[in-house]
Amino acid sequence: MSPEHSTPRVTVAEAGRHAGETVEIAGWLYNLRRSGKIVFPQLRDGTGIIQCVALKSSLPEQLFETLRDLTQESSLIIRGKVRAEQRAPGGYELDVEGAEIVQRVPESDPYPITPKDHGIDFLMDHRHLWLRSRRQHAALAVRHEVIRGIRDYFDSHGFVLVDTPIFTPSACEGTSTLFEVNYFDDEKVYLTQSGQLYNEATCAAFGKTYCFGPTFRAEKSKTRRHLTEFWMVEPEMAYATLEDVKQVGEELIVSVIGRVLENRREELKVLERDVTKLEAVKAPFHRMSYDEALAKLQSKGSQIQWGGDFGNADETLLTEDLDRPVMVDRYPTNVKAFYFQPAEDRPEVVLGVDFIAPEGYGEVIGGGQRIHDLNLLLKRIDEHGLPREAFGWYIDLRKFGSVPHGGFGMGVERFVAWMCGLEHIRETIAFPRMLYRTKP
Ligand code: 4AD
Ligand code: MG
Repeated sequence: MSPEHSTPRVTVAEAGRHAGETVEIAGWLYNLRRSGKIVFPQLRDGTGIIQCVALKSSLPEQLFETLRDLTQESSLIIRGKVRAEQRAPGGYELDVEGAEIVQRVPESDPYPITPKDHGIDFLMDHRHLWLRSRRQHAALAVRHEVIRGIRDYFDSHGFVLVDTPIFTPSACEGTSTLFEVNYFDDEKVYLTQSGQLYNEATCAAFGKTYCFGPTFRAEKSKTRRHLTEFWMVEPEMAYATLEDVKQVGEELIVSVIGRVLENRREELKVLERDVTKLEAVKAPFHRMSYDEALAKLQSKGSQIQWGGDFGNADETLLTEDLDRPVMVDRYPTNVKAFYFQPAEDRPEVVLGVDFIAPEGYGEVIGGGQRIHDLNLLLKRIDEHGLPREAFGWYIDLRKFGSVPHGGFGMGVERFVAWMCGLEHIRETIAFPRMLYRTKP
């Protein structure tokens, strides 16, 4: 496919290392400017965008005309000499010597996403193409960095990765948000809401474990923070308390932000992210109890009463004067899932903690300490109207060497939205699944 086989094929990202050499770059036409006897095709290859310069005087006439009339997102391979150019965004330009068009997008059916403004529904319908745009590309590159940073953190802190099942027989986070699936022979299973319950088993085998995968919530919420399918990383630690959970969550966040700032500056620039906001996120995070948070919210005019869960508006209000996350703990028992350990001194609250990010990004981590006492767990399962049969194996964990343990879940998309400064989490995943969107 290469126009000249002796020419080295490089990526846009690598082009700078070949200044003065003739190379070829395979990609797509991002944009094209014409100016009489010169055309400037902008070539995009997934690693970057490079401006090419094609002179009428130095190219065969036919080739010059082909380039001049080339349509947006046509695929092509350009051969040319790399030249340092201070004014160019990447620092280099390519002086075109030859080109091979791989597929020309016909004028009769042009690339639908043009530089003009499109509405969000149109863009979401064309998500499969929209991913090629600079901002979308940048957000997904940040996502990749976040995921790498998360994995590196756990892998280098003694956690063992154990993948947990997607088909599950029971609820973890409440029965009202389960997606039901027809399994064989009329058996019903559910798409997992969280790998936590399984991690409670694996941490008794390995000490510290984590799972990282897609999770599902049949939540009819149409907010900018909710997807029906999202990715969650969930560490779980044996012999751990609420305090350990807070410490690991804080370290994880600081570590991943450091990685993003170190490796994704360019992308953050494309996204016009104010990086000083991310640079300000340092340990120690703010800490407050639910009661303190409630008092703060009420003093700021919220109508919330003791026993109520924080809504999006409350979370935003709670952090509006903060430059780093706040860890809110000791929630009323009734707002949290069945598995939370009650506080010893105050059984009406549980040892759960939410990490609420600043700038309105809301809860990015939820977790806490789990019930380790057999009888208390049985009581809670009954109180929540959950079928004991489905939890047999989970109950077993309280019979065979039960220990205090805890962990948390961090939602990747909310975290990425925060890193990128995005208004809505739908842009943090390649193909979002939401209440009213399952395509493309
Ligand atoms: O607070 P959640 O529901 O906690 C759990 O599922 C626990 N079992 C986790 C654990 O302790 N192992 O969810 C954890 C995080 C939230 O803080 C949020 O970041 C994200 O998952 N999350 C969502 N992200 C996108 N869309 C949704 N619908 C989400 N629901 C939760
Ligand atoms: Mg939560």
